[in-house]
Amino acid sequence: MSRFSIILQILKNAIFKPQLLQELSRERAEIKDDEKFRSHKYSYNFNSISDFFKKRFPDVEINEFERELHELDEHVDDFFKSLQTKKYPSRDKPYPIDYSINSDSRKFLYILCRILKPKNVVETGVAYGLSSSYILKALDKNQSGTLHSIDSIFRPWQSEDMIGAAIPENLRHRWNFNLGKSTEKLQQVFDELDGVDIFIHDSLHTYKNMMFEFECAEKNLNENGTIISDDVLDNDAFFNFSNRDNLNGHLIKVNDDLGLGLIIKN
Ligand SMILES: C[S@@+](CC[C@H](N)C(=O)[O-])C[C@H]1O[C@@H](n2cnc3c(N)ncnc32)[C@H](O)[C@@H]1O
Repeated sequence: MSRFSIILQILKNAIFKPQLLQELSRERAEIKDDEKFRSHKYSYNFNSISDFFKKRFPDVEINEFERELHELDEHVDDFFKSLQTKKYPSRDKPYPIDYSINSDSRKFLYILCRILKPKNVVETGVAYGLSSSYILKALDKNQSGTLHSIDSIFRPWQSEDMIGAAIPENLRHRWNFNLGKSTEKLQQVFDELDGVDIFIHDSLHTYKNMMFEFECAEKNLNENGTIISDDVLDNDAFFNFSNRDNLNGHLIKVNDDLGLGLIIKN
C-alpha cells in the first residue's frame, strides 16, 4: 500500500467511521503523554527465561516442554514465510512482523502454562496470534483450560479475519475471542468467568493503558494469580504498579534485550 493510498484510506474512514479517527488521535495523545513516565532505572531479576525456570521451578525439566514445540515453531515459520511477499500495510499483512511477541517470550508463556495448568487465561493484544498460539498449544497438551483474548480493529487495513490468523485450526477449540478495546472488554471478560489464573498484557503499551489493565487484573485475578506483561521497559507502568501495591514484580530478560514483567500475587 503506497503512502498515498494509506492517506486516502484514512480520509475515507474519517468520513464513514469517524470513531476510528478519534481513536487514533486519542492513541497519539496517550503515546505523547508517555514521555512523562520514563524515569525508572531497570535491572533484571532473571537473565533469561531458563534462569527464571531453574530458580523458580527447580524440579521441572523444561527441555521436555521445549521439545513439544517443534511442530508449532514450524507452523509459525511457514506462516511468516507466507507473508514475506506481501506488502505492509495491507489487508493481507495488517501488522508488521516484529509486532509479534518474540521467541523467548512465547516459549516462556508455553512452559509457564504447562507448569501452572491454568483454567482460564486472559490476554489483551492478539495481532497475528503468536502468544495466543503458544498458550493454546499448552492448554491443548494439558487437556484443560480456555484462553480469552481481546483485540480490536484500529486501522483501516485491519479486519477481524486477520486477528489470530496464525493460530492453527486444531488449537482453536480452546479459544474465546472478544472483539473490542481492552478498556471496554476487559472487565466484562473477567465478570463472565469463574476465576482467572493468568493475565497477559500485550496490547497498547502506553502508561495509561498498561496501568488500567494491571489494576483490572489485580482486582479480578484468583488469589495466587499471575500477571505477565510484554515490553515493560517502554515506560514505568509495570514498576510503579508493582511498587505501589507492594507486589513482587520480576523482570526477565528476553531476546533483543527486551523485558518481560511478571507478578505472582501472594
Ligand atoms: C504487540 S501486538 C500483539 C502481539 C501478539 N500478542 C502476538 O504475540 O503476536 C499489539 C496488539 O494490540 C492490539 N491493541 C492495541 N490497542 C489495544 C487496545 N486498547 N485494546 C485491545 N487491543 C489493543 C493491536 O490491535 C495489536 O493487535
